[in-house]
Amino acid sequence: MSKDRLIIFDTTLRDGEQSPGASMTKEEKLRIAKVLEKLRVDVIEAGFAVSSPGDFESVKAIAETIKDSTVCSLSRAVHGDIERAAEALKGANSARIHTFIATSPIHMEYKLQMSPDEVVEQAVGAVKLARNFVDDVEFSLEDASRSDHDFMCRIIEAVIDAGAGTVNLPDTVGYGEPYQYGVSIGKIIENVVNADKAVFSVHCHNDLGLAVANSLSAVMHGARQVECTINGLGERAGNASLEEIVMAVRTRHDVYPVETDIDTTQIVAASRLVSSITGFPVQPNKAIVGANAFAHESGIHQDGVLKFRETYEIMKAEDVGWNANKLVLGKLSGRAAFASRLEELGIKFESQLEFDQAFERFKVLADKKREIYDEDIQALVSEVQVGQSEDEVVLVDIEVVSKTGRHPRAALTLRRANQNHWVESEGDGPVDAIFKAIEKFADSQSELKLYSVNAVTEGTEAQGEVTVRLEKLGRIVNGQGADTDVLVASAKAYLNALNLLQNPDRMHPQLGGV
Ligand code: KIV
Ligand code: ZN
Repeated sequence: MSKDRLIIFDTTLRDGEQSPGASMTKEEKLRIAKVLEKLRVDVIEAGFAVSSPGDFESVKAIAETIKDSTVCSLSRAVHGDIERAAEALKGANSARIHTFIATSPIHMEYKLQMSPDEVVEQAVGAVKLARNFVDDVEFSLEDASRSDHDFMCRIIEAVIDAGAGTVNLPDTVGYGEPYQYGVSIGKIIENVVNADKAVFSVHCHNDLGLAVANSLSAVMHGARQVECTINGLGERAGNASLEEIVMAVRTRHDVYPVETDIDTTQIVAASRLVSSITGFPVQPNKAIVGANAFAHESGIHQDGVLKFRETYEIMKAEDVGWNANKLVLGKLSGRAAFASRLEELGIKFESQLEFDQAFERFKVLADKKREIYDEDIQALVSEVQVGQSEDEVVLVDIEVVSKTGRHPRAALTLRRANQNHWVESEGDGPVDAIFKAIEKFADSQSELKLYSVNAVTEGTEAQGEVTVRLEKLGRIVNGQGADTDVLVASAKAYLNALNLLQNPDRMHPQLGGV
């Protein structure tokens, strides 16, 4: 049976970034975009160009870099947004403008304060304007799952006539129920007279844990684009997870009438990178990309798998990129080997200085840790952007004394603008002492929102990767630090967050004026 193509539209860099605390710098977004391209996603929603200068620059940089995937920017159905999106996308090989307006009675009445006729008029105007800039225009009916069927058919027919090639029916609030949502999509496709001129898409939120089920049900009823994110990142409870959609379609090809173009062997690498950049750990029992996803604990299962793998496994771990994390480098590896591994991982530095810093860190790490894996390199590279400009603070050295029954003490030497500063503090625990000492120097007036530690690889010599989330005046940033010594990693992560807080481009999109 010949299969339809299912378009995979990744919105990790836009909706994914709307997870509180998941904001990313331009460089981080570029790294993720390159991995998404390697994964062969069809469309990368790179951001919401109008939402902040930082987001505009990120969309622009991604548009100018990515060659194989379509690059898309979100925009409300208003002139300024669409023009800004078009401007950011100018350098793209293949560009899409994604414009949206809400269509549910509750959104039209209370949020937009517009009549249904006005909403149709604005939607049509937006699509026509967007078509002046690009051939590929997507229109979304925000809160479609709570919108009226006849009204949706009316607006969809109008936007397709106006030039929209993709029509997206989001379950914005995660209210959809799989059977009902799928059937409603099928009915819309059946009732819209010009439905054959557009691809129907879904974008489901996970408030009831049904985002993947809703998306797949829609696919069974005719949707041919799914919007999703790596690790299911996204606003509130997140979006449908890319890896689950792709592997469901592939594993149950007997059921789904579609196939994707995704290179599934890149899935684990993409998941790790997104987790390491955002500081959102992947739960061990997460399907496909969780550490336990292919681990068999029970004796009966282990016995079965050893005898014949398919007794308990429906997918091959290596097909999604597990076990691909081979021993890559060691103490004796030189610059060329390091550079070539970076290239294979899709990591590129803007300058020689950044590469040199990364190589220096690699050498230090190789002295402490015999075996260096891809994950170690990714963690180490995440730190490289720290300490670039004069006013950023870097860690020179650290001493922590911790004794039972005594308050731990931390003493640090920090460097800013080529000057060393010595600071010390007591704390309730060693990490608390470190953060207090740094604050004595920085006096950032920020609030610590999250502190988390993850082992980058297995074993006791593994690097600890620490995430520190700080908030100041509504701006949220995540700092990362990795080291075989978790206390050093903690200090680095805190300093990374402080340095990012100083960077005005790193504005959370929800606070960027939209
Ligand atoms: O959830 C939603 O409705 C969205 C749209 C802007 C597509 O993110
Ligand atoms: Zn969304």
